[in-house]
Amino acid sequence: MSKHRVSRRQFLSYTLTGVGGFMGAAMIMPMVRFAVDPVLKAAGASDYIATDVKVADLTTEPTRVDFSYEQQDAWYTSTVTNTAWVYKNDNGEIVALSPICKHLGCTVDWNTDKSNPNQFFCPCHYGRYTKDGKNVPGTPPIAPLDVYEYQEKDGYLYLGATKPNPIGQGA
Ligand code: FES
Repeated sequence: MSKHRVSRRQFLSYTLTGVGGFMGAAMIMPMVRFAVDPVLKAAGASDYIATDVKVADLTTEPTRVDFSYEQQDAWYTSTVTNTAWVYKNDNGEIVALSPICKHLGCTVDWNTDKSNPNQFFCPCHYGRYTKDGKNVPGTPPIAPLDVYEYQEKDGYLYLGATKPNPIGQGA
């Protein structure tokens, strides 16, 4: 006979501990899964968002391009719509400018200030930018409009993150 016999009390204690642990884990695991799920999900498949603009259709006149994508914010998914002003410069290179004014973040428009044609104009405090996004000295913005990174895929324009405009400051 073994010296390590389990008493009825010990057997009940072990059994209840085991069942209790199992039930506790069954209740907690979904909560843990819910808490870390966004962290476990892979990031977006691509950093570039497709637009419906054909690169061949771009001209030297800035065109407003709206594009949307799904944004995951922890457990909340929303559709975000961004805008770019896109044209081809004299070298045929694509220029995609952010519309966010570098003064206080209003939205700039192209060629809407009749007294200063062919410039980007911010109606909030009359900020102005030349066509390449450079801020016009003497107006409130103190830096050029940011530029979007871009790619061409299957003839269509894809836009990525914004970065500081390489043309340098106007004032
Ligand atoms: S926010 Fe654009 S000029 Fe002030």
